[in-house]
Amino acid sequence: MIQEKQRRPLGVSGIRVSSLGVGTNRWAQGRNDEAVFQVFQSLVGAGVDFFDTAEVYSMGRSERLLGACLQRNQKPVVIASKFAPLPTRLLRHQFMNALDASLSRLRVQTIDLYYIHFPFTFLSIETLMDLMAQAVKTGKTRAVGVSNFNAKQMRRAAARLARYDIPLAANQVRYNLTHRQPEENGVLEACRELNVALVAYRPLERGRLKSNTVPSTSPSSSPSSTGWKGKALSKEQVLQETLQTIAQKRGKSISQVALNWLLRRDEHVIPTPGTTSKRHAFEIADTLRWELSDDEFVAIDQASSPWKH
Ligand SMILES: NC(=O)c1ccc[n+]([C@@H]2O[C@H](COP(=O)([O-])OP(=O)(O)OC[C@H]3O[C@@H](n4cnc5c(N)ncnc54)[C@H](OP(=O)(O)O)[C@@H]3O)[C@@H](O)[C@H]2O)c1
Repeated sequence: MIQEKQRRPLGVSGIRVSSLGVGTNRWAQGRNDEAVFQVFQSLVGAGVDFFDTAEVYSMGRSERLLGACLQRNQKPVVIASKFAPLPTRLLRHQFMNALDASLSRLRVQTIDLYYIHFPFTFLSIETLMDLMAQAVKTGKTRAVGVSNFNAKQMRRAAARLARYDIPLAANQVRYNLTHRQPEENGVLEACRELNVALVAYRPLERGRLKSNTVPSTSPSSSPSSTGWKGKALSKEQVLQETLQTIAQKRGKSISQVALNWLLRRDEHVIPTPGTTSKRHAFEIADTLRWELSDDEFVAIDQASSPWKH
């Protein structure tokens, strides 16, 4: 089990989750249902209790599989799903029908965190937040999130929800060591200011942040921009070597180091790596049990600084 310090709040919604969640968008792709359940079991058994899905993931199959897991393992977990505001969905009943369909696939009465999946829609942010507020009032969702919203859109969403005394709980955006836009475009800043969780999707850049994705060219243990025989290293190699060095020293994997860097970056960040593997599930859970030192954090920060701009 994990301790309270290994948990983080979804803004001021009152919901707390393990500091790392898990994304399920590939659960429905080519895996048998038992294998998916084994991954779920491993995660929940190790204290990970925040699961991310969406109605559009494999046309509802991800929600269905997650629902089946919830039936089999009755431990309480926090479920997040998403409404896709497609151009053909402009009416209140379409929103409510989509929410009801997600509830039915997940086999739950309430979705803990319900996001608007993306801001590209003919509906105004205010109209979307009015719908989300109704979903909370009817008890079908507990907390409201947005996804892929920029800082200005987040502020509009939060301001509209405030009329109903509902806080904006989370903004789910892409964030990892090779995609640091949330630090530059004001989203992280807005999360701090509004006290909103920044749920980081693709925290492993779709699995690219792992061992040996870039061949190591330097035998030296300290990262530098000059590698073996003075050969210049690409920015990818510098980052890879830095992560590899720290991972080796700690006896951890590069993916664990990359996830821990995000956790250390800001207390509002909650990474949600996707996994379909039991081994990776254990690694993700183990990431909660150790922290980077200040020096390690700074070394990684510097090595990934080319991705800041
Ligand atoms: N809101 C949005 O618009 C949006 C967009 C994209 C994604 N998402 C959400 O974010 C979640 C995560 O994103 P993602 O799955 O696209 O990318 P990701 O988490 O960056 O990467 C997933 C990849 O990393 C691998 N992986 C996981 N743990 C690992 C470990 N410990 N060591 C080595 N490799 C590891 C996985 O392989 P295995 O399967 O073999 O473990 C998979 O190939 C999704 O599942 C989804 O819920 C949201």
